Amino acid sequence: MAILKILQYPDERLHRVAKKVAQVNETTRKLVRNMAETMYAAPGVGLAATQVDVHERIIVLDISETHDQLKVFINPEIIASSGVSDCEEGCLSVPGIYETVSRSGKVTVRALNEKGASFTLDAEGLLAVCIQHEMDHLIGKVFVEYLSQLKQTRIRAKLKKRLRETM
Ligand code: NI
Repeated sequence: MAILKILQYPDERLHRVAKKVAQVNETTRKLVRNMAETMYAAPGVGLAATQVDVHERIIVLDISETHDQLKVFINPEIIASSGVSDCEEGCLSVPGIYETVSRSGKVTVRALNEKGASFTLDAEGLLAVCIQHEMDHLIGKVFVEYLSQLKQTRIRAKLKKRLRETM
């Protein structure tokens, strides 16, 4: 397994739109394992393939405190949503920034697991928020893009400054 490099906002590659996985195979499973290892090491609760510069529709999540409830979604689709949830979010690609985003409170998602089998999951609370956050990455959207232009400009300036300081 390997720890992958996580792209940092405002890297342009975070805005690429991921393609559907045509076939779930050993290459997919290897990527999923590396994504999970990268997420746990960060540490974070979710990671989209886009964030490790692989532009395929794959996300991994684990919101458990014990870090043993890995959920893998390949080609995820939200087939139903309801309610509203305002939740403070962060992102491994936007370190140190936490902002409240308004999303659906409940979602039903259909996806393939790492074996290529289809499943449907009803999610609410933090899990629903995480699924929506990670699925946004797959269409090239980072959570800060829900914020005002002024806030986005400030966040970009802050992260660019921090990047310069660590180089
Ligand atoms: Ni994120």
